[in-house]
Amino acid sequence: MDLPFKTVLNSVPGTEKIAADFSKIISPGDVVCLYGDLGSGKTFFVKAVCENFGIHDVNSPTFAIVNEYSGKVKVYHFDFYRLKNTGELLDIGFYEYLNDKEAITFIEWSEKFPSILPENRLEVHLEFAGELKRKIEIKKL
Ligand SMILES: Nc1ncnc2c1ncn2[C@@H]1O[C@H](COP(=O)(O)OP(=O)(O)OP(=O)(O)O)[C@@H](O)[C@H]1O
Ligand SMILES: [Mg+2]
Repeated sequence: MDLPFKTVLNSVPGTEKIAADFSKIISPGDVVCLYGDLGSGKTFFVKAVCENFGIHDVNSPTFAIVNEYSGKVKVYHFDFYRLKNTGELLDIGFYEYLNDKEAITFIEWSEKFPSILPENRLEVHLEFAGELKRKIEIKKL
């Protein structure tokens, strides 16, 4: 997969294929910020990417703020959705997570706190385009 990358995902298996391609170009130390409305497929995408790392227990961290998984790589999975401000994130050591060069970090609802995101990041933008259709755009900043 070459970045920037843009396509229309027409089915769940189609998304899984792109997630597999994406998993090959990311490595520990990377921060992947996900953008898109409710139900656009952020958690689904993280889950599908992680399957390729032998991680099968991905679920939405909406209530936990961050989930931690381990497989072929270590993964941190944040969701900013229910956070009112960045205080809670700083309290749990957000930057320590980001600076862990042995882990890949995913962040759902990145648009909520743009100023806290690292300058060097990958962005995955998802958009609902029909029951089984999603637009996806991936870029590296
Ligand atoms: N082509 C597709 N690619 C990805 N997901 C799809 C596709 N078609 C349908 N879906 C469905 O869309 C839903 C996406 O839900 P998901 O929980 O991933 O959204 P989300 O962006 O994480 O929402 P939230 O903002 O609530 O966290 C899933 O139920 C998934 O099965
Ligand atoms: Mg989600």
